[in-house]
Amino acid sequence: MIPLSRPSVGPREEQLLLDTLRSGRLALGPRLPEFEAALSARLGDLPVSGVSSGTAGLHLAVRAAGVEAGDEVVTTPFSFVASANCLLYEGARPVFCDIDPRTLNMDPEAAAAAVTDRTAGLLPVHIFGYPADMPAFERLAAERGLWVVEDACEALGARHADDTPVGARGNLAVFGFYPNKQLTTGEGGAVVCPDAATKERIDSERNQGRAPDMGWLDHDRVGFNYRLDELSCALGVAQLERLDALLAGRSRVAALYSETLADVDGLDLPCPDEGGDRRSWFVYVVQLPRGVDRDAAVLALRERGVDSKPYLPAIHLFSFYRRRFGHREGEFPVCEDVARQSLALPFYPELTDGQIERVAAALREVVASALTRSA
Ligand SMILES: Cc1ncc(COP(=O)(O)O)c(C=O)c1O
Repeated sequence: MIPLSRPSVGPREEQLLLDTLRSGRLALGPRLPEFEAALSARLGDLPVSGVSSGTAGLHLAVRAAGVEAGDEVVTTPFSFVASANCLLYEGARPVFCDIDPRTLNMDPEAAAAAVTDRTAGLLPVHIFGYPADMPAFERLAAERGLWVVEDACEALGARHADDTPVGARGNLAVFGFYPNKQLTTGEGGAVVCPDAATKERIDSERNQGRAPDMGWLDHDRVGFNYRLDELSCALGVAQLERLDALLAGRSRVAALYSETLADVDGLDLPCPDEGGDRRSWFVYVVQLPRGVDRDAAVLALRERGVDSKPYLPAIHLFSFYRRRFGHREGEFPVCEDVARQSLALPFYPELTDGQIERVAAALREVVASALTRSA
């Protein structure tokens, strides 16, 4: 079976992990600031706080932005559930709006239409590593007095048209380092902060509310255990050293998929870069032709030795979100249509040309036989 994803780890990761294990410091040691500094160097030298997951980072970021219970925050329903859940942790309400059918990111016009007097912030997501239209969201935020938190969990290495790295525009921005990501620390994440004071607050809240100059059991605010441990940081340091090669490996796989699948009738491939924005490849997600049952396609691909996954389901249609907020089908037609037909294919830097061709041949066969049956 060709798996959906596989972390890329090599001798450098093994060496730094062993060094760290033998150092006797497994938490709150020197690897954390080392990892943060190396990440910051790739993100315009903005202050960075390492945290235990992308979800933890989103939670601390919306708190630092000033979210309050009862606030509305405009965000996208086409995302991993954590970008909406982080608002629920603080009693705020995610207000969804539809997405752009090309980029699959939150549509700026739909976002503007969703803003009300109760809106406090915007939470765009750079979905599948494609840069969200931050200039438009920043304009909207300035006009309406809103804060902005960027969910960049899937987008390390992406760049905006003006060449700013995604996450380095000076908004609070969050990265995730789960093993399917461009860079992994096992579990882990990071918050990019606009200034040193924000980093100080996040550093404290990730560590039970302890300020850097306080004693071990002294706490001056409520906090969490969202710390990133030393082994995770060692992995992150090694991965950052070869991030460009990891990103190039993903681009190679994406380019070969796009070339091989270009002639499959009715199959929508991930959008190419446009207007100077540059995607960082996180997943390779296709939209199956109308008339092909996506869930049946997943099973048929599995029979042919290829793992695939419906990706992503619409957040507002999850049973919890329907119950809590009364969402129903038909509210966000572009998102729902994309969510119904989208399929993630195996994607990681070490996929060989032969494996990519096997996946493509299996998909071609599955699509053709589904279309013949439905004709
Ligand atoms: C868009 C998005 N937001 C948030 C997260 C949450 O990150 P984590 O799984 O590290 O908590 C992820 C990834 O898993 C993600 O893809």
